[in-house]
Amino acid sequence: MEKTLSGKVAVVTGASSGLGRRFAKVLSQAGASVALMARRTDRLAALVAEIEAAGGKAVAIALDVSDAAAIGPALDQAEAALGPISIMVNNAGVGGDGMALEMTPEVFDDTFAVNVRGVFLGAREAAKRMMASGVAERGEARIINIASIAGYTQLPGLTVYCASKAAVVSLTKGLAREWARLGIAVNGICPGYIETEINADWFATEGGAKQIKGFPRRRLMDEGVLDESLLMLAGPTAKFITGTLITIDDGQIL
Ligand SMILES: NC(=O)c1ccc[n+]([C@@H]2O[C@H](COP(=O)([O-])OP(=O)(O)OC[C@H]3O[C@@H](n4cnc5c(N)ncnc54)[C@H](OP(=O)(O)O)[C@@H]3O)[C@@H](O)[C@H]2O)c1
Repeated sequence: MEKTLSGKVAVVTGASSGLGRRFAKVLSQAGASVALMARRTDRLAALVAEIEAAGGKAVAIALDVSDAAAIGPALDQAEAALGPISIMVNNAGVGGDGMALEMTPEVFDDTFAVNVRGVFLGAREAAKRMMASGVAERGEARIINIASIAGYTQLPGLTVYCASKAAVVSLTKGLAREWARLGIAVNGICPGYIETEINADWFATEGGAKQIKGFPRRRLMDEGVLDESLLMLAGPTAKFITGTLITIDDGQIL
């Protein structure tokens, strides 16, 4: 892979599994040093070892993004280990599934604390540091929020998750507008369904299999389909892209 991100430092939240794990590896392959954040640090340590074995540089940092006070210090730790952050991937997310009539206020709050407030604070704390280090002024600051097609539609049994992802879509555009003149590009990716821990149990059920048959192409997407969009939004091209959410969904919401 071309080293388009050589010398850059990237943070990926939710790097302990699924898409975040993939994003961290892809950013590393493109030359970035990566700070891996999540709660399951054993998995992060294994990924650090994998990235280092492939010749990359990575550090594992424990972070619960629903702990508002912990996000800034985690980013400071990343900068102390790797240098100024120029790419922040707000990927950590939870399923927030459950029917509205049964959902407890705690599940609602947890979903929004991770999927919405975690993204907001992750972006804001990264932006502050990108400004302080001069990365923003150089037009190299990139914030990438992982939303979902759920931000644009209603998915079965996922009303609150969909609401949280609609909020991520809105936040991405709002922050892009606020920080446009600061040199910070804020963009997002809205993936369709890719099998990961967040949905594997559901797709193993009859209902899940039926949902897949209802997609226009009757399939889930491959793990690597987001790689190129991620690299574009992380790299020099995104100097002139901000407030954009790229939908990659194999036509699943058509
Ligand atoms: N897979 C899909 O089809 C799909 C489609 C559209 C959007 N997305 C979005 O993609 C993102 C990644 O999901 P995934 O599919 O890769 O699911 P996943 O395999 O379940 O990964 C979720 C990640 O988020 C982390 N996380 C959850 N709560 C956290 C918290 N409080 N603090 C820090 N990290 C936390 C988890 O790490 P720990 O548990 O170790 O903390 C894990 O690394 C999510 O935002 C999801 O909504 C996924």
